[in-house]
Amino acid sequence: MGERKQVEISVEELEKQEYYIREVRKINDEQYGNTGRHKKHLTITYGCQMNEHDSEKMNFMLSQMGYAPSDNIKEADIVIFNTCAVRENAELKVYGKLGHMKSIKRIKPDVKIMVCGCMMQQQHVIDEIKKSHRHVDAVFGTHNYHKLPEFIYESYGSEKTIVDVWNIDGQVVEGLRSIRKFDTKAYVNITYGCNNFCTYCIVPYTRGRERSRKPQDIISEIEMLAKDGVKEVTLLGQNVNSYGKTLEMEYSFAQLIRDVNEIDGIERIRFMTSHPKDLSDELIYAIRDCDKVCNYLHLPVQSGSSRVLSKMNRHYTKEQYLELVAKIRKEIPDIAFTTDIIVGFPGETEEDFQDTLDVLRQVRYDSAFTFIYSKRSGTPAAEMPDQIDEGIKHERLERLMSLVNDISAQINETYRGETVEVLVEGPSKTDKTRLMGRTPQSKLVNFEGSEELVGKLVNVRIDDPKTFSLNGIVL
Ligand code: SAH
Ligand code: SF4
Ligand code: F3S
Repeated sequence: MGERKQVEISVEELEKQEYYIREVRKINDEQYGNTGRHKKHLTITYGCQMNEHDSEKMNFMLSQMGYAPSDNIKEADIVIFNTCAVRENAELKVYGKLGHMKSIKRIKPDVKIMVCGCMMQQQHVIDEIKKSHRHVDAVFGTHNYHKLPEFIYESYGSEKTIVDVWNIDGQVVEGLRSIRKFDTKAYVNITYGCNNFCTYCIVPYTRGRERSRKPQDIISEIEMLAKDGVKEVTLLGQNVNSYGKTLEMEYSFAQLIRDVNEIDGIERIRFMTSHPKDLSDELIYAIRDCDKVCNYLHLPVQSGSSRVLSKMNRHYTKEQYLELVAKIRKEIPDIAFTTDIIVGFPGETEEDFQDTLDVLRQVRYDSAFTFIYSKRSGTPAAEMPDQIDEGIKHERLERLMSLVNDISAQINETYRGETVEVLVEGPSKTDKTRLMGRTPQSKLVNFEGSEELVGKLVNVRIDDPKTFSLNGIVL
């Protein structure tokens, strides 16, 4: 693969975008004058936290350009689809939505439709949009979404679809701000891209090679967030454990979390995702020693069968994974694990699947994201023989989910009568009169309380545990 130089987006490039922000703002202000009305945007995000965070950054630029957020697709003046390519389902949904937008654009020709994100990094998707979705105004990718202001500006004077997708990687965009969903917690990118090439996965092709942000850039961003009232940060990377490998200095992920632990105002540190093959002892000790680092680890296993794991190119066996979990539990007894599991990988037998269920029973995850294997063109697994029948895949998924949920419910039941520490995030999703927050183990807790508690750490006694959440009373 060779060494690649890490390039940062130049200051001039961002200044150019500032210019477009002002120009678009002028156009929008002229249109509405001082009526007090604003143009509206709707950003629809699919996929993982990387995409969510990229959308937060685009939303900040949109607000600077004078757009107010809306959740009504018919009312929005600009609709942005930030897409995910990880499974076929996610892709199909986007094509469905684009079809729907065609009828909206017929009634409202001025609406701007933009599509970006991981799907756009694949040539066949760009071709499909050019062929069947000509009503789209701009198509851009994961490496150049900072150019959104320029695309909007250009789209005002043109009927053509703007296509600008960069295939080069190595860029690190610094200096983009974001609009957060919650006041109390924030995502912070630490690495971009992925070098692992798990044989089923499209991400290395859509996000490019792995590169790390400089520690001082990460730390100053978190210091700013802390000043802004953020209490919890989630450090993001496809594999945070390999953070630092592309830096010129010697600096590891463990060192980074020790340094973030020193930042005043931050009360909780989370991170995702950890690849089991790169989880060092140094990192286990850092999680154990740093008081702000939550005792929670998302540790995707993908499969419990060593044979399947080898075909997936995961670089660990079932036994090595279980030993790793045991070692972590020995150092940090109250740690909670969650995981990702794929069923129906090519060639997966009933015996392989039983190995996966066995790992679940041994590790006892607090929860698990379970997926049916989806063939991604361009990845090695798509070409493997013995693709599994859809019926078998679904049947395995059901058995898997039923065990995952049983274990989650059993673990949650052990919380009955216990007191947990909750960082209050805001109103509960299901009942707006109640509050919700999370424990260090990332358990969702619902309870009654006044709004002043938002952003605070409170103790809650659990009196009604459910499978996916805990209900309790503030003490
Ligand atoms: N970098 C992270 C997340 C990658 S994508 C990691 O390594 O864990 C999130 C999850 O999607 C993966 O963990 C995997 O379980 C699932 N996934 C990826 N490609 C898939 C595919 N082709 N079919 C089904 N699930 C897939
Ligand atoms: Fe995909 Fe594997 Fe990279 Fe995760 S580590 S993004 S699953 S290739
Ligand atoms: Fe994330 Fe989907 Fe891209 S999982 S990295 S948004 S392919």
